[in-house]
Amino acid sequence: MNPYSIAEADPKAFISPSARIINYQQVSKKIIIGSQTQILGELLVYWKSGSIQIGRRSYVSTGSRIWSQSSVTIGNHVLISHNVDIHDTDSHPLDWAARRIDATAIYNGTYFEPTQTLSESIVIEDDVWIGCKATILKGVHIGRGAIIAASSVVTKDVPPFTVVAGNPARIIRQLPESESSEAKFTDEEWERHLPGLKASRSDSMEYEDFEMQLQKKERAIEELNTICQQRMKDSIAKELEIGQLAEACQQRLEKLKANDREINLIRAACEERMEEMNKKMAIHSELRRSFTRLKLIVKWAAILTLGAALIFGTLYWLADHLV
Ligand SMILES: CC(C)(COP(=O)(O)OP(=O)(O)OC[C@H]1O[C@@H](n2cnc3c(N)ncnc32)[C@H](O)[C@@H]1OP(=O)(O)O)[C@@H](O)C(=O)NCCC(=O)NCCS
Repeated sequence: MNPYSIAEADPKAFISPSARIINYQQVSKKIIIGSQTQILGELLVYWKSGSIQIGRRSYVSTGSRIWSQSSVTIGNHVLISHNVDIHDTDSHPLDWAARRIDATAIYNGTYFEPTQTLSESIVIEDDVWIGCKATILKGVHIGRGAIIAASSVVTKDVPPFTVVAGNPARIIRQLPESESSEAKFTDEEWERHLPGLKASRSDSMEYEDFEMQLQKKERAIEELNTICQQRMKDSIAKELEIGQLAEACQQRLEKLKANDREINLIRAACEERMEEMNKKMAIHSELRRSFTRLKLIVKWAAILTLGAALIFGTLYWLADHLV
């Protein structure tokens, strides 16, 4: 549940599921909602100051926002249509430099006390009707029975029983002050007169159902949160693991590079040796060729010598035997 959803609401008040109660002061009496009043829109009081008090049998429709840093007092039987903005504070100063501080604080999530801001209480008396999309600004007092026309911007007090319209709102009509018999009802009579109004069981039950659904959803969100956190932890662990693997890979890469350098040195040495060997082989082949040539010369010399010896021997024998 939202920790700021705190208000002092009469048991017969009806806070719709669409309502948003934001009580930054977390003091329940800072937002007071009277009997048989229905809230469908948003009520917000600021961190350091502000209060909202809504009387009996009033109505704040969907999308309407009542924000208070000073005080907003709304009477009985007040009808506030949808998308109405009621702000008793400018929220930000006129000085641009000071607004920069606000902007930074909003970004940082520390915007607790708006700087140099003008705030002034708003009072809306009984039986006022505020048309849709109207805006009521700081310090405005709207008299009893007045009507604020749709989309009006109210910057000044509105006298009782008048209709105001436009931007800025101006009186366009006077209203009669005639009082019907209902207007003379006491609170008890109203309570009797409207016994089954929106604070009735069916709506409360609808609200309770909604509450239960909300709680279920909140539990589901918590579970999802837990899963997400676990996943986050897992992914952080995996990231660490990947980091370590990357480091190991880097080391291996460096080793491989060192090995590469060594291999290149060995290859260069091998190539040098090969060159030397080739030179030696060339010398060896040359020697071999020379030796073969020598062998041929010796062979022929021997053959020639033997031939000569044979010829000379034969001649000698012939000379010896024939002569
Ligand atoms: C306030 C309202 C009831 C007045 O109705 P009305 O008495 O019939 O007024 P009229 O239409 O006769 O208009 C009177 C003058 O005021 C002007 N006027 C009426 N409503 C206006 C408005 N919202 N903004 C500016 N001027 C407006 C008209 O143009 C007219 O001007 P003119 O005399 O120069 O021609 C009506 O204009 C209005 O705003 N209703 C609220 C509707 C609403 O919010 N519904 C949501 C459900 S709660």
